[in-house]
Amino acid sequence: MSENIFIDKNLSKEEKYKSLIPQIKSLITGEEDFIANLANVSSALYFGMNYFWVGFYLVKNEQLVLGPFHGPIACTRINLGNGVCGTSWQQKQTIIVPDVDKFPGHIACSSDSKSEIVIPGIIKGEVIFVLDVDSENLNSYDETDKKYLEELVNFITQTKK
Ligand code: SME
Repeated sequence: MSENIFIDKNLSKEEKYKSLIPQIKSLITGEEDFIANLANVSSALYFGMNYFWVGFYLVKNEQLVLGPFHGPIACTRINLGNGVCGTSWQQKQTIIVPDVDKFPGHIACSSDSKSEIVIPGIIKGEVIFVLDVDSENLNSYDETDKKYLEELVNFITQTKK
């Protein structure tokens, strides 16, 4: 694995993803412990992209359970169909929420979170985790985030033994 992640703070969002994603792929390649990899991915995204909160919820016994993350403490369990994470799990698709106050059933782990994107990690048609990214600002996420975070999540699912 590589020892350091380097991101130029002056790059555009897309340029940051283009620089960061290959570094993250390199970071987790060769390590077979899934949780260790999710932990490093959380840290790399948090510091690389300056997210307010980023982390994984893992599907365990019909619930999403909090996994590796970076940012303020978060709610630990989410049911299928609940909040943005539970909806992404249920619909098996990425959900972008420009204003969390306008998303029915949004789960406010922090009142500082204003917009959000959730990407499901799918293996053989089943969601095994979701990646949740939160922002302190409205309208933070768009098709650029979706494209690069889906690419990353697809890569992560391929590393799962
Ligand atoms: N807001 C999420 C819950 C997780 S936290 O934001 C970390 C949701 O509505 O699913």
